[in-house]
Amino acid sequence: MSIVFLDGDFIHKDEAKISPDDRGFLLADGVYEVTPFYSGVPFGLDRHMARLERGLAWMRIHYSLDGLEDIHNRLIRANDLQDAPTSYVYLQITRGAAPRTHYFPQEDVEPTVYAFARTWQRPSPERWARGFSAVTVPDRRWSRVDIKTICLLPNVLAFQDAIEAGADDAVLVRDGVAIEGAHMNFWGVFNGTVVTHPVTNNILPGITREIVLELAGQAGIALEERPIQVEELREADELFFTGTTGEVRPLTCLNGTVVGDGSVGPLTKTLSDLFHGKVQEIQKAAEESIA
Ligand SMILES: Cc1ncc(COP(=O)(O)O)c(C=O)c1O
Repeated sequence: MSIVFLDGDFIHKDEAKISPDDRGFLLADGVYEVTPFYSGVPFGLDRHMARLERGLAWMRIHYSLDGLEDIHNRLIRANDLQDAPTSYVYLQITRGAAPRTHYFPQEDVEPTVYAFARTWQRPSPERWARGFSAVTVPDRRWSRVDIKTICLLPNVLAFQDAIEAGADDAVLVRDGVAIEGAHMNFWGVFNGTVVTHPVTNNILPGITREIVLELAGQAGIALEERPIQVEELREADELFFTGTTGEVRPLTCLNGTVVGDGSVGPLTKTLSDLFHGKVQEIQKAAEESIA
């Protein structure tokens, strides 16, 4: 039985009730975060909470983040996920329930805060080593996708288009630029340089992206943050995505054409190894602090 957090209480999911007037339900007026846990240890929680805080501030939703770390840890324990190799906590904060208007409610409304925990599965090493496929899909999102709002319809439609095209994922294209994935950031390797789109209002500033950039920099890997033109994709030696539940995900086939020599490239592999090393480091530090 899943235990969820709703507006101050830890309850069985079956008991969770949200008003039909909730502005998240009616207007997608809310933000969310997904924070990964490895064997019950949070990974990058501070960074996820900082992104959430920026989103809340921009949306002008007033909610204190003080108790959120505790809520995350309690949800993991309440759902017996301390030993799950990979899990996450999903947290959503909406502006709350109020008569539907296109402007903010005029009376004081309490935000609705909902969170749940669940496991996610890494692909097997054999599956990962084969690489994944994607197709390019037009980016139909709005101009503030740097804010992690729950307004994900264009992402859902893009992912669905990819599935219907027989691919594993989508690469969103805007003005001739391969911007990012439907739920992950997008990277390419060109002549030994690892390239990803800079942080602008047109991409979600991924926490995994940020960590992988730091690890690549520390390892002395050549890096460039610049837009990747769609025409360049044919010349890419390697392509990959990064994201919370995707980690570093190799892309070996794009629009039905193999990427590079069709196998997972060396820099993708190195970055994935560095990322897993960082996860282990955080887990070890948590174990030592308990011992
Ligand atoms: C559009 C988009 N880009 C990138 C990401 C990756 O972000 P993160 O690494 O923080 O999971 C996500 C995650 O949900 C996303 O939805």
